Amino acid sequence: MTQHSQLTRLGLFDARVPRYTSYPTAPHFAGGGGAAEFTHWVHEIPENATISLYLHVPFCRRLCWFCACRTQGTTTLSPVVAYVETLLAELALLGRNLPKGVTLSRLHWGGGTPTLLPPDQITILAEAIFAILPLAEGAEFSVEIDPNEVDGPRLDALKAAGMNRASIGVQDFDPLIQETIGRTQSYELTKQVADQIRDRGILSLNADILYGLPHQTTERISESVQKLLTLSPDRVALYGYAHVPWMSRRQQMIPSDVMPTPEERLNLFETAEKLFVWDGYRAIGIDHFARPTDGLAIAQATGHLRRNFQGYTDDTAPILIGLGASSISRFPQGFSQNASGTSDYTKAIRAGKFASHRGHAFTSEDRLRGRLIEALMCDFHISRAEILASFDVTPDRLQSLLDATARAFPGMVTLDDQGLTILTQGRPLTRMIARTFDAYDQTKAQHSAAI
Ligand SMILES: C[S@@+](CC[C@H](N)C(=O)[O-])C[C@H]1O[C@@H](n2cnc3c(N)ncnc32)[C@H](O)[C@@H]1O
Ligand code: SF4
Repeated sequence: MTQHSQLTRLGLFDARVPRYTSYPTAPHFAGGGGAAEFTHWVHEIPENATISLYLHVPFCRRLCWFCACRTQGTTTLSPVVAYVETLLAELALLGRNLPKGVTLSRLHWGGGTPTLLPPDQITILAEAIFAILPLAEGAEFSVEIDPNEVDGPRLDALKAAGMNRASIGVQDFDPLIQETIGRTQSYELTKQVADQIRDRGILSLNADILYGLPHQTTERISESVQKLLTLSPDRVALYGYAHVPWMSRRQQMIPSDVMPTPEERLNLFETAEKLFVWDGYRAIGIDHFARPTDGLAIAQATGHLRRNFQGYTDDTAPILIGLGASSISRFPQGFSQNASGTSDYTKAIRAGKFASHRGHAFTSEDRLRGRLIEALMCDFHISRAEILASFDVTPDRLQSLLDATARAFPGMVTLDDQGLTILTQGRPLTRMIARTFDAYDQTKAQHSAAI
């Protein structure tokens, strides 16, 4: 059997396997984490704790066909300005409930397109955040930037507010691919924005690119990666394009007969991976690359790499509060998700209530399984000693969990006294191997591909 066909037999190209940015994954949240619990969990944050904040801006001027993110199109600024008003009200409500002295280790603005906000709105929002949650020493403030939707005054406002990491969306530079996925963006424009960011002293730059796009070939992805390398990003996310037209209706604009085959997808990933590694990047987890001096590479080298709703992170704060429609918060007690629709979210906040509408209160079994999954996704390794020291599990129970995984993936993992390790040839199967620890996924076929 060739390596590819063996990988295929083990489930490699199943687009429905989750990316495990949380456990349980959002579709499996089973209760708890509504507005009352959210309020209680906020009250239980220790005084002077350092936490993280995610703020979601679900608007874009144009809706790229490939995109499966939660966002809505708008041609005018009025819904965006109204949304900022609601965010300010949500922040004020949070401020009234937060214990004293809490500071931020990470602040991330994502979307959608946060840079749709005009400069004065950026300033107002940032000031309102820092009035209740000042940045801690060494904190990181990052923002997702669509190079098509940013200009000098917005970057000035972000820099003045303290942004110190910018994340630009690239996807692919090839004109045919860009036309097919409904996202045109020249190399020249992208370079200009990267230069504008660095000229302002914002020295940490991330870029997102995709493999598995329609019409993508190894030649085309090589060319795009080489162009991206001329911008010298500190960190790259090389996401597998999730083609889920049943969930994201705009993807129906993309013809399915020009999609690469599963085997081609793997070749595309491996081609891009080689180029990044040749250029001196460290491979991080299943889909990131980072310069050795970048925080992600350091976290990986020191065993502190973690996974949260934004993907890989070097943030070790145990609490992440999500603001805005559909945002998910994580507490030691569980997850809590805000209402997904902007109008339901707005209605709750304008009525003076938190907008949490669903969630999941952790059991001790969730915590154990969540860490087993996270360890594989981050380190390709589960340390027996770490798990036995941190969780209430007997050596026999842990052995039987690890045995079941090793049996399901012969030749792809090793199991010894140290723990379970995914071998190099098994790494493309990491999400499938992690799924063996997912107790909510017993049907193994019900997943929607989460991006
Ligand atoms: C939430 S989007 C925001 C990016 C920003 N608005 C922009 O356009 O540059 C963040 C990233 O999600 C990734 N993404 C969106 N749709 C995807 C899909 N269907 N499959 C995989 N990744 C996707 C893209 O790489 C994108 O840059
Ligand atoms: S890729 Fe960015 S700009 Fe395009 S629809 Fe998605 S969030 Fe909006």
